[in-house]
Amino acid sequence: MENKIDVLLGLQWGDEGKGKETDIIAKDYDVIARFQGGPNAGHTLEIEAMKFIAHTIPSGIFHDIINIIGNGVVIDTVGLQIEILKLIGTGRLDLNDIKRKLLIAKKSTFILPVHRLIDIAKDATKKIPIGTTAKGIGPALLDKLGRNAVFMEDLLKDGFIEKVNEVTKKHMLYIKNVLNYDVTKAVIKEDGIEYSFEEYTEKWLNSLKLIKELSFIDCRNYIQKALKEGKKILAEGAQGSLLDVNYGTYPFVTCSNTTSAGVCPGLGVNIHQIGNVFGIFKAYLTRVGHGPFPTRLRNKIGEYLGTKGNEWGASTGRERDCGWLDLPALKYTISLNGNPEKISLIMPKLDVLSGIKELKVCIGYADKEGNRIAEEDFNIDCISDDYTPIYKDFETWNEDISNIKYYEDLPMAAIVYVEFIKKYLGTEIIRIGVGPNRTQTIHK
Ligand code: GDP
Ligand code: IMO
Ligand code: MG
Repeated sequence: MENKIDVLLGLQWGDEGKGKETDIIAKDYDVIARFQGGPNAGHTLEIEAMKFIAHTIPSGIFHDIINIIGNGVVIDTVGLQIEILKLIGTGRLDLNDIKRKLLIAKKSTFILPVHRLIDIAKDATKKIPIGTTAKGIGPALLDKLGRNAVFMEDLLKDGFIEKVNEVTKKHMLYIKNVLNYDVTKAVIKEDGIEYSFEEYTEKWLNSLKLIKELSFIDCRNYIQKALKEGKKILAEGAQGSLLDVNYGTYPFVTCSNTTSAGVCPGLGVNIHQIGNVFGIFKAYLTRVGHGPFPTRLRNKIGEYLGTKGNEWGASTGRERDCGWLDLPALKYTISLNGNPEKISLIMPKLDVLSGIKELKVCIGYADKEGNRIAEEDFNIDCISDDYTPIYKDFETWNEDISNIKYYEDLPMAAIVYVEFIKKYLGTEIIRIGVGPNRTQTIHK
């Protein structure tokens, strides 16, 4: 029987814990596929004593299953090369395993060194910068929409370097003459090392040798055949729904469709082929980069969440801002991704709230005149300085819950917190995270 493709994605501003969750459910799947984004993602996996951060490679790579980098993904081959070497460094896989298990869509798109340069130059010259990850995501996707993409399959064809040079030359004129940006000042950071544009370009050229040895597929055909054969496929989202280019906090968004709809163009499936959707949200809220964040806490409690939750970006190392859970925003993102009665919610990081001095969640918004916005009128513009969050207070708890295995064993105050969220959203929460390790999970 033909199967459907399940989707796992973030419902907030990213970093919800998608990596850990994908790794946990990967055992139920034959294929894990990334469908959008690129190395702006940082998905943390903690397996026994090992910690690995996946950027471009899907988070199912430690299981003996297929991992696909889909059509919708943009790839920086320098980053991918480093990621592959780190994978090998874990001692759990060798290059042959990677060639067998990791399949790259021929029509996934190159992030060229010049795309990284534009990303840096644009944010440096903008009045209000976006605070991108500087990985070249936006410029590479813009070239794709502008019909100038360099696809991975081009690497295997004649005229590849000429095509790259043509795109680079055009962008250099823009960087120098329109942005008036001094290219010699650019610092491209990768894996903690700083490169000039020339140095990075050289590194990029060197990376192509390894990349050429990897396995390439026609992503759509592979997925369609696998579904027909009854294989189970999970699409792994990157970023979060509030960063979606259409429905997020524009312009402080990423440049892809991070919602379940993005799976169709990203992997080559039709809308009827989408199955279960797993939506992930932290027990509180974080954001990295710029943009509105009404429930942000610029105080000791925010610092407490940041320190206890280890809230530093897995891709850029930047400090993440922390704040209270925003339920109207969550209800909105759930509705973007699936039927609220059917979507499966997962809530990591409940353990981080243990020992907190006060606990609130945002249950609504008021406009400047103090009028409460009706639930059905909430829209993405409420996430701005023009609106004020309305909060509900909760009792706190002090117990360490990081080793708890059963829901009923949680402190009563934690159960009250979870039950309220569940009732507000009208959606079941199927799993709760109580620590970063694979095993620190409560299955409800
Ligand atoms: P992703 O981008 O959605 O995969 O999330 P990140 O890996 O960027 O950030 C999530 C962080 O939270 C990582 O450091 C995870 O190891 C950690 N994490 C995931 N689930 C839990 C949890 O339930 N409790 C705690 N304390 N940490 C968690
Ligand atoms: P994962 O998959 C958190 C944010 C950036 C910036 C905005 C645009 O780990 O959840 P971009 O480089 O994409 O053009 O930056 O999006 N951003 C993320 N924030 N987690 C991510 O990925 C992110 N990917 C991009 O910080 O605000
Ligand atoms: Mg992350």
